[in-house]
Amino acid sequence: MIVAGNWKMQKTCGEARSWVEDLLAASGPISAKVRLRVYPSFVALETVARSANGSRLEVGAQNLHPERSGAFTGEVSAPMILDAGVERVLIGHSERRHLFGEDDAFLAKKVRAALDSGLLPLFCIGEDLAEREAGRTNEVLTRQIERGLGGLTPVDAARLEVAYEPVWAIGTGKVASTEQVAEAHAEIRETLGRLWGAPGRAVPLLYGGSVKASNAGEILVLPAVDGVLVGGASLDVPGFLAIAEQAEKCA
Ligand code: 13P
Repeated sequence: MIVAGNWKMQKTCGEARSWVEDLLAASGPISAKVRLRVYPSFVALETVARSANGSRLEVGAQNLHPERSGAFTGEVSAPMILDAGVERVLIGHSERRHLFGEDDAFLAKKVRAALDSGLLPLFCIGEDLAEREAGRTNEVLTRQIERGLGGLTPVDAARLEVAYEPVWAIGTGKVASTEQVAEAHAEIRETLGRLWGAPGRAVPLLYGGSVKASNAGEILVLPAVDGVLVGGASLDVPGFLAIAEQAEKCA
């Protein structure tokens, strides 16, 4: 059971360090069945990795550029992330897709670059409201998987995680119903299984979109859900730990 926080463009280094210290001081009652993870901004990445070093807290970057180095002003590469002491990376978050225009082909390059460098990607997919209302959810999820991940092998799949984050549920307070989550996760698992067989069906699937302590339990208890990716409610330690407590009950 994975409980991961995506801080997006929030927290200074000092705030990030305090969060890690407070979390590690208070996470004792959460057993090792629940994996705790955070994706800080690039600036706070090394600080968080140092503070979490040797602890249970897993750390990931929120993005990467597919090239290892070069003239790409403002970008960060896989070797830089690894050098900061971090072994995970988010790829294809809806904000990257929609606000920064990252398309399926570019995201596929990022996934390949991450895996080739030894980073563990959490690949995010999800339909927007118009696509859901038009009954195109399954088609959109399948397309995002096939185009973003289609070039991978079963060996790659063993190092992959996928997050289902419906765009209309991100930061809106509108959480997908348990039926919607169960249906989407079943569709995703089937597509991953079709691509890679057993390793595809074993890819951990996280749900994200307005997850908080009051709704995490009913989502985490679904058999097709292996964890949650939490934005706003991950920013304060008590809120994050309250979600981890729900995960503990379902683990
Ligand atoms: P919220 O939990 O704030 O809706 O954000 C979800 C998200 O985008 C996590 O990646």
